[in-house]
Amino acid sequence: MTATANDLDWWRNAVVYQVYIRSFADGNGDGTGDLAGLRGKLDHIARLGVDAIWINPWYPSPLADGGYDVADYRAINPMFGDTAQAEALIAEAHRRGIRVLLDIVPNHHSDEHAWFRQALAAGPGSPERDRYVFRDGRGPDGARPPNNWESMFGGPAWERVPDGQWYLHLFDVKQPDVNWDNAEVRADFEQTLRFWFDRGVDGFRIDVANAMVKQPGLPDVVPGVNDVQDGGHPYLDREGVHEVYRSWRAIGDSYDPPKVFVAEAWVPDPERLARYLRPDELQTAFSFNFLTAAWLADDLRRNIDDALAENAAVGAPATWVLSNHDVCRHPSRLSRKPETGRGWNLDDVLDLPADPELGLRRARAATLLMLALPGTAYLYQGEEFGLPEVEDIPAERLDDPTWELSGHTERGRDGCRVPLPWAAEEPAFGFSAGAAAEPWLPQPDVFARHAADVQEAAPDSVLHLYRDALAIRRAHPALGGGELTWQDSPEGTLALSRISDGGEGGFTALVNVSSAPVSLPEDAEVLLASGSLTPRDELPADTTVWLRH
Ligand code: GLC
Repeated sequence: MTATANDLDWWRNAVVYQVYIRSFADGNGDGTGDLAGLRGKLDHIARLGVDAIWINPWYPSPLADGGYDVADYRAINPMFGDTAQAEALIAEAHRRGIRVLLDIVPNHHSDEHAWFRQALAAGPGSPERDRYVFRDGRGPDGARPPNNWESMFGGPAWERVPDGQWYLHLFDVKQPDVNWDNAEVRADFEQTLRFWFDRGVDGFRIDVANAMVKQPGLPDVVPGVNDVQDGGHPYLDREGVHEVYRSWRAIGDSYDPPKVFVAEAWVPDPERLARYLRPDELQTAFSFNFLTAAWLADDLRRNIDDALAENAAVGAPATWVLSNHDVCRHPSRLSRKPETGRGWNLDDVLDLPADPELGLRRARAATLLMLALPGTAYLYQGEEFGLPEVEDIPAERLDDPTWELSGHTERGRDGCRVPLPWAAEEPAFGFSAGAAAEPWLPQPDVFARHAADVQEAAPDSVLHLYRDALAIRRAHPALGGGELTWQDSPEGTLALSRISDGGEGGFTALVNVSSAPVSLPEDAEVLLASGSLTPRDELPADTTVWLRH
């Protein structure tokens, strides 16, 4: 792609579409998504009007954690394709003006990575073991784990190997943490960045970007003392991680145009999160507090303001997201009276009564709110079809390691990873090409209503709403860079106006998070609404309208 001056900071105001490759489209009929499937659907992505795609890990992997257990960072999982196909895909996306971001997983490898096999074979005290976090256990015979750290998926974060040592895995037992104090580890990740940058990739999403660096001595987590991410936690948001990103930024900046990073860092304090975005570190980081905000005007506004203010202090844009492959899809989350402040995973809300119609209405409204905000927005595949979370996948089909590691108490994240429906009348809703194997996760009947062809045919569908919103976002001068100003609006509603850097205005989004209709401002022309207005031209509850005035 040739760069113009404007291209250089495309990431400040982009819309990025997340491709969970395993579930996007299956080109070879084996029931699993792949590169051929993705390539065949690039038209769909281009027609949506996004600026870039982010592809979840596509590397060789035993898929113990959906590919976040990487066995080889510089190759393609044969299940998905090969490196030549990846290069062709990148080129084809670029031809359509779509940039390509990959996913890098720097906190851990797969236990099937060559280095981990070497570490097991080489034994205690070896340089091979020093690439990971091996320790002796506690107690007289070392039978107790080295400390009290727990896996994010449940249970202890340590696994014992036959010679008696233990290795750290903050995630699944098949995801050994690497040692970021080891120079070879650092150099190897830098080589991976260059490998993909040299093949035209435009940037990376960084997986658990706040976890890699551990406190020397690996002390116990002391509940109530250092269970907050304030720099004192033994493995979350430690100071040392910033040095890693300064070196990565220098690598990215050595390319023309420079490469871009987005951090997946669940750091709750926006001021601490913004530290990842200082001018010599990463360009962007997901503002997850927006995703987890309650569906209440005050909570939404506070979280938007905090992210914008803290990021502005370091000169960085905000990055908004409502759904991804780790959280309950937003129509299902919002179907559950989230004003009660429950969590964002299916397991946090499953016991609450759900109203799917209400959830979808709110989801459409939430999306128009997100797309009206300054900064970058990420969309997750299938949200443009209004897909709900699949909440009743049979237990024997669940694949997320959370299910096993929680002792079958948490169903985990499979419900947002179900293969996409492309054609309502075809087997597997058109997910696979030709006569195909069953999809790797079962699709519910309700997917028929959300299939791409059904959405295409219905003018008031979620798909058309997304396309219309992205077209307006692209064309309206006030929706480029620039600022947000809040206008006075009735209780329980939000009214935000946008003014471009060049001073162009004329755009207001009104979001009705209350339970009653509100009138529109006088002299306002409706550009787009997430749902129908009332017969008296008022904005109903749980609806957003974009106005020109
Ligand atoms: C991130 C990924 C998630 C994965 C975890 C461990 O949170 O988004 O899917 O399980 O990291 O790599």
